Amino acid sequence: MNNNQIHDHEGTPAVIGVFDSGVGGLTVVKELRRLMPHQPIIYFGDTARTPYGTKGPETITRYAEEDSRFLLQQGAKILVIACHSAASVAAEHIKKTFDAPLFEVITPSIEQALAFTKNKKIGLIGTRATIGSRVYEAKIGAIDSEIQVIDQACPLLVPLVEEGWFKRRETRMIVKKYLRPLKERHVDTLILGCTHYPLLKPVIQEKIGKRVTLIDPSHEVARAVHTYLLKTGGLAGGPTSVANRYFLSDLHQTNQRIVQTFLGERIQIEQGGP
Ligand code: DGL
Repeated sequence: MNNNQIHDHEGTPAVIGVFDSGVGGLTVVKELRRLMPHQPIIYFGDTARTPYGTKGPETITRYAEEDSRFLLQQGAKILVIACHSAASVAAEHIKKTFDAPLFEVITPSIEQALAFTKNKKIGLIGTRATIGSRVYEAKIGAIDSEIQVIDQACPLLVPLVEEGWFKRRETRMIVKKYLRPLKERHVDTLILGCTHYPLLKPVIQEKIGKRVTLIDPSHEVARAVHTYLLKTGGLAGGPTSVANRYFLSDLHQTNQRIVQTFLGERIQIEQGGP
């Protein structure tokens, strides 16, 4: 991959295109902005069709292709799949379909989990689509067949986060119940395999135990993009004239409120999408 692929003809820094099924992918945007404050970002959250995590692989793959095409049409030069459900079932398809460099939340999280686990028992939590894809087991098994992946679909956690119920008693009970089988199997590393789970980190850490290392994919994917841009020379060293843009396919008030929960600030959002 050469630098020309990610720079436009004026040498403007590469625009990062990030998509998610909704607003949860803003956890990834937050990390990208922390590491690369001047890098232009275009975000697309498919709030009109969310959630993806309850849908089948064909539907999610079709949506992911449409979302990627939309970002590229808006000028993105790099694609980031922030949605774990989409990354689980559609990353290979997106890689084959488009030429742009592709990053997703799964690969760098697996690398981190492999680096941290000592007892070779890795826990994974995610939506039904993510867990059902078995993609973590396949990828981890291909690297080290002795590693056990103990997984758990946690469908109730996305709505709890979207309601802002981060520390409620009910949330703590539900998290505890979901994590019990992973705790009983003594996982020493836990992958937070969903955009929403970083917001529940304190409760998750408390319930799984403080000795377990939590892997936050939003950090890992941002780090991977940063390393790539440093290597290829596409990193914005200072402010650019290209503004960040945030698109949601449904701009309902509720979505605007949730955006603030995720990003911690008010942003200008545009209605748009494929
Ligand atoms: N963004 C999704 C994920 O990370 C969670 C929300 C949904 O199910 O669409 O899997």
